Amino acid sequence: MCGIVGYVGKRDCTKVLIDALSKLEYRGYDSAGIAVFENGGISVAKTKGRLRDLCEKMKKTHIPSGHSGIGHTRWATHGEPNDVNSHPHAGGKVTIVHNGIIENYKALKDFLVSKGRHFQSETDTEVVAQLLDYYYCGNPIECIQKTLSEIQGSFALGIIFADRPDVVYAVRRESPLIVGLGKDENFIASDVTAILQYTRDYYLLEHDEIAVLGMDGVKVFDSHGSEIKKERKTADWDVDAAEKQGYEHFMLKEIHEQPTAVKTTITPRISDGLPDLSECGITVEKLRSFNQIFIVACGTAMHAGLVGKYIIEELARVPVVVDIASEFRYRNPLVGVGDLVIIISQSGETADSLAALRLAKSLGASTLGIVNAKGSSIARESDMLIYTHAGPEIAVASTKAYMVQLSVMYLFAFELALAKEKIDEAECRRLIGLLRQTPDLIASILESADACQKISSQLINADHLLYIGRGLDYALSMEGSLKLKEISYIHSESYAAGELKHGTISLITNGMPVIAVATQTKLLEKTVSNIKEVKARGAKTIVVCQQGMEIDPSAVDFKIEIPKFEDIIMPMPAVVPLQLIAYYTSVLRGNDVDKPRNLAKSVTVE
Ligand code: G6P
Repeated sequence: MCGIVGYVGKRDCTKVLIDALSKLEYRGYDSAGIAVFENGGISVAKTKGRLRDLCEKMKKTHIPSGHSGIGHTRWATHGEPNDVNSHPHAGGKVTIVHNGIIENYKALKDFLVSKGRHFQSETDTEVVAQLLDYYYCGNPIECIQKTLSEIQGSFALGIIFADRPDVVYAVRRESPLIVGLGKDENFIASDVTAILQYTRDYYLLEHDEIAVLGMDGVKVFDSHGSEIKKERKTADWDVDAAEKQGYEHFMLKEIHEQPTAVKTTITPRISDGLPDLSECGITVEKLRSFNQIFIVACGTAMHAGLVGKYIIEELARVPVVVDIASEFRYRNPLVGVGDLVIIISQSGETADSLAALRLAKSLGASTLGIVNAKGSSIARESDMLIYTHAGPEIAVASTKAYMVQLSVMYLFAFELALAKEKIDEAECRRLIGLLRQTPDLIASILESADACQKISSQLINADHLLYIGRGLDYALSMEGSLKLKEISYIHSESYAAGELKHGTISLITNGMPVIAVATQTKLLEKTVSNIKEVKARGAKTIVVCQQGMEIDPSAVDFKIEIPKFEDIIMPMPAVVPLQLIAYYTSVLRGNDVDKPRNLAKSVTVE
């Protein structure tokens, strides 16, 4: 979703803003713009389209030149993506960029119109710019405070005032925003990856705190206007982590980073051969006390939760409900004291997941966040917290974040099963031993890239395809199908293999590809029957199974074999070919793999 940056310093501001915005492209956007202090005024350049379109436009018209300003990539919510609706937006002396949604913008707009104000765009953002200007009497902090008291919703704002050259103001409520701290230069950004090449030091802004950035320093004020001292944080992600390092796309790089990401995530949580999540606030006593677990998340993170459900119920025998966050928050869920609500999120800022977390807390449940982005809202507000150590994930389609979410699901399930005395210590050690082997297993599957590419070449002209599986394989096929849809734009559905006969099989036509995930030994015979059913109706079948599994060759057109291993661990290696198939299909269709159309990586609005 929208990305915000701001800069005050000695460098060429336009260059810094464009560079920082390019690091936020992964969030998803449809227009871009900057505003720079120049020759005693503010120069604005903005356009519908990508950053390269903005650069082209500036080359043809005017490239703003100055040392401070703000920039934005917009993911349209109020008003279609066009030049006028693009940010920055101005109202009199005030120019702003905004991420989030102003819920009461309509009432505020009516008020401002009644005061004789005219609007150029359809955006909620312009309302904030005009409101700030309406209250501006020469004291920026006071006018920001007054505006904050009137606007409702979620927002992060970068603000400049025409009569305060070379000062950038920033404030946030719900939406993410950090303040980067350099030497004789300072920054704002939606996340730290945008400014890693300039500095790794930053402040996290709390809700309604106002930051004032000058070249010589940053001051932060609380919502009452008193100056406060902020704790300086240092990002442990380096610049390389946010670069492609020779890979054609971030997605491919991130797929290849999975073995290391899993190792980095699980190793510190294993002590003496057993899971140890005590550092995350998870104790045996707490685990014993939970009667019921809810796993709530969106998109790929929710799919990691589905795998979690199978393994937690299988090993720990605790009932688990998996919920889509946007459903959970509005369905009056039967959650309360004694329940554990697990929120899984890569970004830690997904609006629906954050709302679900707050709802769970208000209902008295214990909450556990499984989060990748350090210091994000979900990380800060969860009672217990397990950070996944995937490093920055830039491609919109999530791969390594999903993989580490799975690894945490395993650690958690093992520890819970042990605490609930459903498995003994020896079995728990054995399971941990298996988990420790997964990085090598994943690495070995990465070698099947050529086979996946070949399969992709068979899919590129398909209009529709199906993913089928049973049990853990069903959970996995949902993720495989989502990945393909996201980046190849081919319509696909995932179905529980046994459910096909109840309607979906009518969709099968001659040559329609069906990807069957069949890694579960106990269910193999059943899944193979379903593969035969679709094959008999003309489907082109692609089967992902374990090496040595006996499957009638006449039912299989293409096969990808995972080295033989224990069934319960299969989702971790078996998702890799599904990721690679989606990746190569997207590449072969000539799509923008890392930035698929219409999608945003971090969905900070409902
Ligand atoms: C968006 C992204 C998905 C992601 C989902 C949840 O839809 O495009 O890739 O899985 O949000 O994001 P989160 O940051 O909460 O894991």
